[in-house]
Amino acid sequence: GRGKNTGEENLAFAEIPHGLDGRHHLPEGYSADILLRWGDPLAAGAGPFDPAVLNAAEQERRFGYNNDFIAFMPLDHDAGPGGVDRHSVSRNSERGLLCVNHEYTQPHLMFSGYSGEYSVSAEHVAVEQAACGHTVVEIEKTAGGWRPVVGSPYNRRITLNTEMDIVGPAAGDSRLQTAADPSGARVFGTVGNCAGGKTPWGTVLIAEEGFGSAFQGDPDSIADPVEARNHHTFGIAPDNRNWGEHDRRFDIAVEPNEPNRFGWMVELAPYDPASRPRKLTNLGRFVHEGFTLVCKPGQPVAAYGGDDGIEKCVYKYVSRRPYRPGDFAHNRQLLTDGTLYAARFDENGSGRWLPLVFGEGPLTAENGFRNQADVLIDARRAAKLAGATPMDRPEDVETNPVNDCTYVMLTKNKKRDADETDAANPRPRNTAGHVLEIVPPGENGRRDHTSDTFQWNTFLLGGNPNAEDPRERGAYGEQRPGSISAHGWFACPDNVAFDSRGNMWIATDGCERFGFHDGLWAMATEGERRALPKHFFGCPRGAELCGPEFTPDGKTLFVSVQHPASDGDSTFDNPLHRWPDNDPALPPRPAVLAIRRKDGKLIGS
Ligand code: FEO
Ligand code: CA
Ligand code: CA
Ligand code: CA
Repeated sequence: GRGKNTGEENLAFAEIPHGLDGRHHLPEGYSADILLRWGDPLAAGAGPFDPAVLNAAEQERRFGYNNDFIAFMPLDHDAGPGGVDRHSVSRNSERGLLCVNHEYTQPHLMFSGYSGEYSVSAEHVAVEQAACGHTVVEIEKTAGGWRPVVGSPYNRRITLNTEMDIVGPAAGDSRLQTAADPSGARVFGTVGNCAGGKTPWGTVLIAEEGFGSAFQGDPDSIADPVEARNHHTFGIAPDNRNWGEHDRRFDIAVEPNEPNRFGWMVELAPYDPASRPRKLTNLGRFVHEGFTLVCKPGQPVAAYGGDDGIEKCVYKYVSRRPYRPGDFAHNRQLLTDGTLYAARFDENGSGRWLPLVFGEGPLTAENGFRNQADVLIDARRAAKLAGATPMDRPEDVETNPVNDCTYVMLTKNKKRDADETDAANPRPRNTAGHVLEIVPPGENGRRDHTSDTFQWNTFLLGGNPNAEDPRERGAYGEQRPGSISAHGWFACPDNVAFDSRGNMWIATDGCERFGFHDGLWAMATEGERRALPKHFFGCPRGAELCGPEFTPDGKTLFVSVQHPASDGDSTFDNPLHRWPDNDPALPPRPAVLAIRRKDGKLIGS
């Protein structure tokens, strides 16, 4: 392969088997520190977690629920809070800020006595809103393993109560104005925070994914047909969770514009604890999985993202101005001045990025767009009108730093009919998902991620390679007999990370329907073992795996175990589900693990 030669074997770990039980699983020779669990204290003076006395003020001082995306941001040894320039070039792998999304809440697993998901008391709604969002927490590697630094001045919770700015072309637009915010440029909080990305200028990008379920109401009660269709596409409905009863801005009959203030990418500066997060409207509004960047000195920044919905599109943003290493003030403007594109995957393996610019092509007044704000607020509709390809639920889209190609995780789409298949979405009733490889023009290392053309190919098809129905059969590598083990196959790719050797690490969300736990699979992207996965980590029952993230030295791998015990009709009170504490006094808790090799060598070697 083209990976760096480190003198250690590549992906030689002893594969773990497919399985399904109440524990997490790692290869022989690895250990996992349970680093952060829902309710763990972040602020000085916050004691051990006691779910019986949890209130919103307590939750604001503690790690949130359903951990998802993870960014490890190194801390320079000698710089304090605010030392953004120093920290953002540090490669310290033993002390840093862990920046973790909290995607959503599950009251039946958080509070005793609930069996249904919804209809929650005012007090519990306030706890839920404080358990969503994001955590910034200082962590350090000690002789006993990784641990959080409780009371660090960097520690911070972002919740639905955190004040944020809205920036870019949609900021201040009439469709973003509310009774509480006539400016249309100030909003409280973020929700549905799924995956994300990092910038080389020391900030973190947080996606707003399934925000629609936070809003209650009937879109058909809205007189404006453009707005009614907009609210429908995000799943706003009368029988959604009942936050609107207790917090009126989540009731669209009271505040019809509040949903337009969600569904964006949010940028956070974790090295500056006093900084106000900002929603970046240039990156469009949809069910954002995440956005990941390609930054080459002297060239515009390219950023890739997915819209995790059935038959939704893949997006790319290109900044107008070039990336300048070390120039924080300049680089902070790169994501607020540029062009958003959506992808068209053609049958012959080529593709085109279609600009979503007001006045160009169909994005005009005849189709109901008043201005660029409308194009960005209704990016889904703009992308379809421009001719972008409807995909099988695009999740993470991320670029391999070693071969400079970009990979698209397509998690699944059971609703695709046989007459709706195309080369990039080749399977009807796609239950296992697939991965595409995007190859921008140019040689490895000098590929042009700002170009409006690309080549693409199918990297792998998820599912069992020996499935009886050929349409459901997985396809990995060159499919030589015996090339993939009985445990190397998986389904429903969701998040992806690359290690320093260019290996791809895929986290899954949906393997339990195939009879085994979700988890992590690792594979080469080049050479003889290209696209031949090996099974590295298995989740406890009910959980999906999110947020794989390596330290710069490749010796620690952080993973998010999300919604353990979220299977069947399990509740807070179910004694069978108690991961990871196995304490009868504690419910199951989503948790972040820090995985290391016991001999201290590279993960996966
Ligand atoms: Fe929150 Fe697309 O997974
Ligand atoms: Ca998730
Ligand atoms: Ca995800
Ligand atoms: Ca998912």
